[in-house]
Amino acid sequence: MVDTFDNTAGPLTTESGAPIANNNQSEAAGKGGPLLIQDQVLLEKLAHFNRERIPERVVHARGAGAYGKFTVTADVTKYTKAAFLSEIGKETETFLRFSTVAGNLGAADAVRDPRGWALKFYTEEGNYDLVGNNTPVFFIRDAIKFPDFIHTQKRDPYTGSQEADNVWDFWGLSPESTHQVTWLFGDRGIPASYRHMNGYGSHTFQWTNAEGEHFWVKYHFKTDQGIKNLTAEEADRLAGEDPDSHQRDLRESIEAGDYPTWTVQVQVMPAAEAANYRFNPFDLTKVWPHEDYPPIEIGKLELNRNPENIFAEVEQSIFSPAHFVPGIGPSPDKMLQGRLFGYGDAHRYRVGINADQLPVNRPHATEARNGNRDGYAYDGRHGGQKNYEPNSFGGPNETGEALWAPIEVNGPTGEWETPRHSEDDDFVQAGDLYRLMSEDEKERLVANLSGNIAGVSRDDIAERAIANFAKADEDFGKRLRAAVEALRK
Ligand code: HEM
Repeated sequence: MVDTFDNTAGPLTTESGAPIANNNQSEAAGKGGPLLIQDQVLLEKLAHFNRERIPERVVHARGAGAYGKFTVTADVTKYTKAAFLSEIGKETETFLRFSTVAGNLGAADAVRDPRGWALKFYTEEGNYDLVGNNTPVFFIRDAIKFPDFIHTQKRDPYTGSQEADNVWDFWGLSPESTHQVTWLFGDRGIPASYRHMNGYGSHTFQWTNAEGEHFWVKYHFKTDQGIKNLTAEEADRLAGEDPDSHQRDLRESIEAGDYPTWTVQVQVMPAAEAANYRFNPFDLTKVWPHEDYPPIEIGKLELNRNPENIFAEVEQSIFSPAHFVPGIGPSPDKMLQGRLFGYGDAHRYRVGINADQLPVNRPHATEARNGNRDGYAYDGRHGGQKNYEPNSFGGPNETGEALWAPIEVNGPTGEWETPRHSEDDDFVQAGDLYRLMSEDEKERLVANLSGNIAGVSRDDIAERAIANFAKADEDFGKRLRAAVEALRK
């Protein structure tokens, strides 16, 4: 939503509003002569053009967004006091930005890559952002590894291309990635569109009820359009023929009134069960099997309005895992904890210190009230009001109520590994996922992986990567080794 004005009539003007006589010929010193510095129309236009781009997102640069609404369909007040979840039937405005991860701003949509799922709820207690993916798990479990991981997904400093060597070297040396990589190279690795995939909060989050009791939750958004995927061959063709396939599909379906919807579910774990659960519930490389914590349906998400201006509303949109509301908070997941810093910092660099106040980013159902002021592109919204607290002239007051319940900690500080629970290792859930697949799916998985691993230049790197899959499931490893060897002959 942007404040617009009528730009369809009246004289063409400069930025300062002066009428422009000629927008097609620049001013020259005599017929056929060089240009004049007094031609401010030309100079202003060229200078503005040079500054049209802001830095693209360091990851998830390529994306598309739409507005919509979230509707509560179940009573969850025994788990959380969040006001937007307080009664059945309650609606909250939302904005969702989908994305791919590794590609640059102009990259094709139909590629094998996780899809980002960044959802903003404009609640009456402030904006709540859930910045997830279409996958329930992730490649690594500690934020300190994220920049290294992303460097292997992006362009190599020497070749300028994505390199199989870097990708498989890192994954082979990071066995905790085996689960997510098995997922990514399986059938769901290339969704047919943004509408035909699920979304996940992925991390574990904390919900706190009005009595102060807390719970650990995971979010699932199940597509009502049905899951649809592309094979590697279909994707290769589509990426060439229609690089904007996902973006176009989303916009056109909303334009046609065919609004995509998702059924929203949560898995809820009582706080006391976390310590002895068979998997560490704060390890992002693991799911909570549904037989342990069955998903409970809590709402419906619908997308029903396209942005009017992609730059203003999508490129400048910002989402932060640190944007919580009362009753919802972080877990001690080391990835989530790192992200609580990473996003706000990226926004201040990429969009600027007043990014939170742009129309798409600011709270829509309440106001941001504090003493923060000024900086680049400050719009003066606070007028002459006092900019400090406490003050004797009236103004916003602190509430004394924490958004979330305290998290228990124990032991000395240290660079500790994420603790392992009774059934934790890096491979168990990757093996379970493989064994769940049909024979056809296993074949496609092995073909997708082997085609990729075969591009590695060193045998030791390929072998280390294959060994991780063999640890997940012996048959998986055997078939993959044979397929890679056949391709590398
Ligand atoms: C510690 C690990 C991570 C770090 C440091 C990190 C950092 C970042 C940064 C800096 C951006 C760009 C933000 C911007 O410029 O506006 C970004 C975007 C994004 N990240 Fe992460 N990320 C991490 C892990 C994850 C995980 C685990 C997920 C999903 C479960 C995820 C989902 C996303 C999404 C969906 C976006 C795009 C947001 C948008 O549409 O604007 N990231 N990430």
